Amino acid sequence: MSPHLDIKTSKLPTKKTGIIVVYAGQGDILHGHAADLWKKTGLDWKKITASAGFEGKQKQMFSLVAPPNLPCDRLLVLGIEAPADDHAKPASLVGWAARGGALLSALESLRCEKAAIILDDQETGPEKIAEFAAGLRLRRYSFDKYKTARKNGKKPKPEKKLTITLHVADKPATDKALAERMARVEGTLLARDLVNEPPNVLGPREFADVAVSLKEHGVEVEILNARQMEKLGMGSLLCVAQGSEKPALMAIMQWKGGKKTQKPVAFVGKGVCFDTGGISIKPSNSMEEMKGDMGGAAAVVGLMKSLALRKCPRNVVGVIGLVENMPDGKATRPGDIVTAMSGTTIEIINTDAEGRLVLADALWYTQDRFKPEIMINLATLTGAILIALGRDYAGLFSNNDELATKLYEAGIASGEKVWRLPLGPAYDKLIESRFADIKNTGGRLAGSITAAQFLERFVNNVPWAHLDIAATGFGAPGSDISKSWASGFGVALLDQLLRDNYET
Ligand code: BES
Ligand code: MN
Ligand code: ZN
Repeated sequence: MSPHLDIKTSKLPTKKTGIIVVYAGQGDILHGHAADLWKKTGLDWKKITASAGFEGKQKQMFSLVAPPNLPCDRLLVLGIEAPADDHAKPASLVGWAARGGALLSALESLRCEKAAIILDDQETGPEKIAEFAAGLRLRRYSFDKYKTARKNGKKPKPEKKLTITLHVADKPATDKALAERMARVEGTLLARDLVNEPPNVLGPREFADVAVSLKEHGVEVEILNARQMEKLGMGSLLCVAQGSEKPALMAIMQWKGGKKTQKPVAFVGKGVCFDTGGISIKPSNSMEEMKGDMGGAAAVVGLMKSLALRKCPRNVVGVIGLVENMPDGKATRPGDIVTAMSGTTIEIINTDAEGRLVLADALWYTQDRFKPEIMINLATLTGAILIALGRDYAGLFSNNDELATKLYEAGIASGEKVWRLPLGPAYDKLIESRFADIKNTGGRLAGSITAAQFLERFVNNVPWAHLDIAATGFGAPGSDISKSWASGFGVALLDQLLRDNYET
């Protein structure tokens, strides 16, 4: 359940509330309204903080129970001084989301139902406040719809409602910043939900239905069925779904926020609703995680929702290929040769390298139909990216230095970081096939790069970037702003990229 965020402009809380929150930096005294509030208690700030061992460091907190003369049961002081090794630029924006997340966690463990946060927006500004609120909301997320009873047989206690009031001086400015920022949050939460859903509940059809539901926000949505894709010649995408009872689908989403003549920015997502590996079947260990193999498509759908909610002034298209990769008598075999929509023939070496087969046709279709200014795809594409980068950065591959730089910067600004790996003819050579134009795997070396080289064959020289989110889309250890298995990675990054570069 998400916290109710209620923005008020009242200078100081007058009505009784559960917890009042104020914040302070290192060696700091309280400023503005927080200082006025503290004065009422008649307590000595220096003495109290010294005895609490409070230094104002990020996420450090202490609280006073029954503080004298204040309309609350508890006063909580939150430290906000960023650690010295915080390389994030601009220094504090992302840090504010982390502070919000840490505070939310504290409020939950105190079983708080009503909190009032005193925000000194003259110093902080609406953007940081919005970021802080985003952290509260993102951390509040949990996916427990399939939990009915706890181990001891008792029903779990219903989660407590939590109402948080932000006390700011400039309500209109804060409201505006908050609406923009919450649009991004909604997209991230939708992407998390999609990735967390089990694969018996969310197959290609159900996923496509979620895309269709974006119509209510003004997104135009078309669905291509397998027959239509066959007519278009999408032999690469379709061969992945061949072993499944669930037919392949493609969803095409258009947000028309710009002039009619404006070239769109295009996003393409891998939507493998479950990846068994097919005939090249995966080991059973952790195979259940392959329900998240549609994380790329989830990020694209989440992003389209965010853009619609904040009425993004730009034409944007989102295309997702939806399939299930299963072993079966009808399934694609290693050795099969298929023809992609571009006309390229592909020798299947390993049916577990299916994501690139889905994207090959989705990318070609997108550039062919929409002639986008840039095209970015997201995919949980390779296990090798976990080995190369671990979970802190997604892999970035691009045929365009300018786009790669913009993505790197959007990563720093949004907190969803990307790190570029190389492409080049020496790697491209590794996917040459004995029997067809190319093969779908490049051997043991540079697995994430050869996968990206494969994709590049289908982008037709459009400025393009590929984000390998196999390590960042799900399974991360959790952060200040997420305790969820699925992170929703990509929505914030691409929303930031658009805001900073493609909306004029
Ligand atoms: N969906 C997987 C990649 C993956 C692995 C995502 C672990 C998230 C966590 C992808 O379809 C795959 O199976 N890739 C193979 C490619 C190989 C056969 C060339 C891989 O990475 O092992
Ligand atoms: Mn696979
Ligand atoms: Zn896969």
